[in-house]
Amino acid sequence: MFDPLDLYDADKRSTSAALNFESPRQWDQKLSMQGQEKQDNSELQTNDNDEDGDSLVGPIYVLDLPYVAYASPEIILATLHLLRPETQVNFQSTEALLTKDICISKDLDEILQNCIVEWYSNTMPNKKLNTIEKICNKIPALANVSETERSALLNYYTSILKRYENTTSILSLKGDILKEVSLRIAECCGRSAIPSMSRDFKFDNMDTKVSLFEPSLTNDNLGWKTWGASLILSEILVENFNSKTVFKPKDASEPLRVLELGAGTGLVGISWACKWKEEFETSNLKIQMFVTDLPEILENLKKNVINNNVGNFVTADVLDWTYPDPFVKKYEIKDNSFDIILVADPIYSPNHPEWVVNMLSKFLKTDGKCYLEIPIRSKYAKEREILIQLLQKNNFAVLNERYDQGVDDWGSVKYLYREIVLKG
Ligand SMILES: C[S@@+](CC[C@H](N)C(=O)[O-])C[C@H]1O[C@@H](n2cnc3c(N)ncnc32)[C@H](O)[C@@H]1O
Repeated sequence: MFDPLDLYDADKRSTSAALNFESPRQWDQKLSMQGQEKQDNSELQTNDNDEDGDSLVGPIYVLDLPYVAYASPEIILATLHLLRPETQVNFQSTEALLTKDICISKDLDEILQNCIVEWYSNTMPNKKLNTIEKICNKIPALANVSETERSALLNYYTSILKRYENTTSILSLKGDILKEVSLRIAECCGRSAIPSMSRDFKFDNMDTKVSLFEPSLTNDNLGWKTWGASLILSEILVENFNSKTVFKPKDASEPLRVLELGAGTGLVGISWACKWKEEFETSNLKIQMFVTDLPEILENLKKNVINNNVGNFVTADVLDWTYPDPFVKKYEIKDNSFDIILVADPIYSPNHPEWVVNMLSKFLKTDGKCYLEIPIRSKYAKEREILIQLLQKNNFAVLNERYDQGVDDWGSVKYLYREIVLKG
């Protein structure tokens, strides 16, 4: 997988990647090699005299999945449910350990459970998969396999699609199977193609779990995905949430004012707000907080604020860096009135450094602080340099900065964290 912003061209507003397609002949070769490997493995097992051969440990292969041509629609549906991706926590897949929990999370009712156990016990006996425990333990893991195995999985899905799409007989489960298999195919194609999803985020220093909805990434709406920069910034802010980072405004009658720019799905602002709630909800401290983005991002952002129960003091609204007047007017915001400004991953076009610095100049209090996290994308080295020059030119100082290694959907990413203040 790749970072879509490495390919983003702000002028053309397009993301495109050169994809390597494999011919059906290559698929066949892979499958037959895999079959050979599987056979070799089972011979090894036999030679090792592994009598029961039913260890819960050890992998299964795509070729162990029920045969599309012979298995009943119930068995195929059960398999597709088992291959549904887990809800990610902090960008990592998690696996439930108890069979009962796996069956619930995969919508595997008793009928589907019995059908698939029957398949592996009697119809096509397979000692690695002949109980519901083994099935729940091994089949879901296939969804997180290597690129090579993913190709075989994609081939399996397309054979289901072909069979059920073309069937003329009216099968009651046809619609469910086609819907599930289409989702599984999309999930194989990286974050840019994945259907809408929810992700969870947990922090060492906070009891509340943050759950965010992400619509499918369409129309270049980059704020519909949660980006790795916002996870690492949230971790830093939640970890260091104390009187130094959450100071009281000098005038005690004033609320603490917090603003997030380009909030996207809202991870930074919402996790900050959840931590504030845990620490100060019962105090008499006052707070006014805004999480902001472009109009097309707003609906989902609002939904995430409400779903995470911080809607009583966090307002989600539009703040366009190129035209902040409507926001300023609507909330009667005075210049330089925010104590804290939060920004994650805002620099991916030549104009962004200037726009972001304009927002800091307009909104940051003279004794306020901006917390900024940017990924080190090779394509935007020049923009990062311009950002530094503009900050200096506009009387800002970088108090602290450090590089961190974080994670996003395509793996490990390097990030730069900065605390920015106005020079006294
Ligand atoms: C790469 S995303 C980062 C989103 C979020 N901060 C995160 O890290 O998950 C950049 C965000 O900046 C927003 N953005 C871009 N240009 C903007 C503008 N002119 N005004 C306000 N927001 C903007 C995008 O809509 C998007 O949500």
